[in-house]
Amino acid sequence: MESNTINRYTVTAALPYANGPVHIGHLAGCYIPADIYVRYLRLKGKDVLFVCGSDEHGIPITIKAKNESVSPQEVVDKYHAIMKNAFDAFGIDFDIYSRTSADIHKETASAFFLDLYKKGELIEKETEEFFDPEANEFLADRYIVGTCPSCSNPDAYGDQCEKCGKSLSPEELINPISKLSGAVPVKRKTVHWYIDLGKHQDEWLKQWIESKKGEWKSNVMGQCLSWMGEGENKLKPRAVTRDLKWGVPVPAEIPGHEGKMLYVWFDAPIGYISATKDFFNKKANQKPQWVKGNSWEDYWAEGKTNLIHFIGKDNIVFHCIIFPSMLKSFGNLTLPANVPANEFLNLEGDKISTSRNWAVWLHEYLQDMPGREDELRYVLTANMPETKDNDFIWKYDGTDNTTDSFQARVNNELVNNLGNFVNRVMVLIHKFNDGKIPVSNPLYVMPEEDELYSFSETQIELISSKIENFEFRAALSEIMKLSSAGNKFLQVAEPWKTYKKNPQAALQSLLVGARLTNALAILIAPFLPHTSKKLAIALNLNELSWISLKDKSYMHISGSLNPLELLFKKVEENEISVQLEKLETNRKQGSISTQTQKKELISPSKPEIQFDDFSKIDIRIGTIIHAEKVPKADKLLKLSVNTGIDTRTILSGIAEHFTPEEVIGKQVTVLVNLAPRKMRGIESQGMILMAEDADGKLVFVKSETMINPGSEVR
Ligand code: MF3
Ligand code: ZN
Repeated sequence: MESNTINRYTVTAALPYANGPVHIGHLAGCYIPADIYVRYLRLKGKDVLFVCGSDEHGIPITIKAKNESVSPQEVVDKYHAIMKNAFDAFGIDFDIYSRTSADIHKETASAFFLDLYKKGELIEKETEEFFDPEANEFLADRYIVGTCPSCSNPDAYGDQCEKCGKSLSPEELINPISKLSGAVPVKRKTVHWYIDLGKHQDEWLKQWIESKKGEWKSNVMGQCLSWMGEGENKLKPRAVTRDLKWGVPVPAEIPGHEGKMLYVWFDAPIGYISATKDFFNKKANQKPQWVKGNSWEDYWAEGKTNLIHFIGKDNIVFHCIIFPSMLKSFGNLTLPANVPANEFLNLEGDKISTSRNWAVWLHEYLQDMPGREDELRYVLTANMPETKDNDFIWKYDGTDNTTDSFQARVNNELVNNLGNFVNRVMVLIHKFNDGKIPVSNPLYVMPEEDELYSFSETQIELISSKIENFEFRAALSEIMKLSSAGNKFLQVAEPWKTYKKNPQAALQSLLVGARLTNALAILIAPFLPHTSKKLAIALNLNELSWISLKDKSYMHISGSLNPLELLFKKVEENEISVQLEKLETNRKQGSISTQTQKKELISPSKPEIQFDDFSKIDIRIGTIIHAEKVPKADKLLKLSVNTGIDTRTILSGIAEHFTPEEVIGKQVTVLVNLAPRKMRGIESQGMILMAEDADGKLVFVKSETMINPGSEVR
């Protein structure tokens, strides 16, 4: 990184979909690596802006909204807040966490599209798409369900069968129906705009990607090149609009814009630019010192910045091919300098899955294990899926297979290595020198002391270069080696023993400990920000800087110590079993369909009302004393109900569920002060209330004993 001449960095982390909370896979795949890199750049005094936000469009969000009978905006508001909190708690320190439903984003994305349209960069094409004739809407593949041709799962989606995992197209489904109305989808003509990726491939894209060989990670290069074949296998034009109701509308200046939205993968990456604008709109007067630029252009114009996209591997094509093509078409904008994509993190041997609830959710972790944020950051970095998929496991069972488990890493590495080293140094300085950092005494320098310093120098260089090369696992492990070396030094110097006979020598070795602790406070800052902060407070360091590692000013530590807050706590068996039981329950509840079905069947609660609204309602217990069918009305029964107040006539739509004989003598709750209503020439004087069970059957709410008619229900 030192070799290039541009000294500014624009760092992005993939905008997470606001249709659910974030889990450890997201953290390990994208947000922790981005945060480590950014914190490192800041420590080095670089000019850097770190942007992210919620991705608030797309079909999964509208489906969720529909299932929960709320608006898409309500869905994204909820998850935006949950995600933002989780990122804050884990110290993912975005300069701005914006969102794509913000006005600034809609304006930016819409203007971007219009610009491409005016430049003639978009192809207009008519195709036939599936349409729901009853709902009068085009159907995204997800909105079409039918039977899977491969495993006969009756609930397969038009894009994938979640039972057997096969990816599908709606044409392949047996008996396809629309999820919106149940109607059989028909094909309908529609016009959309496309970006001509094949043209980009030929003109510059392929060459540009190839020029990154050796610099970009090989998993990223491999994927990119595999997309850009020749002839048949060349990149095809890609639609950038959809027939949808939720999204960024196609600009009204464009003929035929009605009912069309930008495709979510067109608008979302522009979200990085809108987030940058959002930052300058909101924080121009309170910029952190590392943001040295003054406008969004400083972080997006060609030649002004190094754009680095942190993402998971499923996002590679969008960040390396489609978004760069969009940026190029727009013109004068920077292309990514690097896209360090990670592979996936699995959980206890299985793919993390939101629909199967197979995940460790961050908001739950924060509740279950408060104060252990850095510990999770540590374990996820140490196991980061940088070059291949990796597994997160909870429990250490004493075998070699589980030494990278959460429990083993925290107990053996954080508690016993790093925590132990720092603690011993601090405690002994308090004990032997009244909390004052000893003054150097050259007479007592042991050969091991000099060895430790030269090892530190080697490690500092190594750690820097690993971070700059996006090898965060390796960087972290080199830091831990340095901490081990510190422990070994103490083991040789044994200040706790030496002090009695030779206090000067003991104090000299504790000074060495304090110097190394100072270096470690800086080295861990990108990885374990909360822990680094505690060390900085204990050592009275005002500001941490990577420079002091290079110019060795960390050696000049002096003055008094403050008390040290507890750094790491041993992970006990019971904490682990709680997590394992949670997962076991999820595994049993297992299959996707039963889980989502259950959720779909419970309707969400209605909007809040005031007590006044409620107190107007008069509900009593009544007994049905007579019932008969209403001629020519299949659904209605005419009931006589003793409400305690009176006996009145009530018409009720329960005839399809019960015969008159079945209901006579039954007790029901009656809404007695509902205004009378005439149906089929008969006045109904109230309403009976019944529960509807999961299959849509009406049920009487049973009581053990008879209740007096007229009793109030409150
Ligand atoms: N929401 C996408 C995902 O979670 C990522 C969007 S990244 C952006 O996979 F570039 F489009 F913003
Ligand atoms: Zn299937």
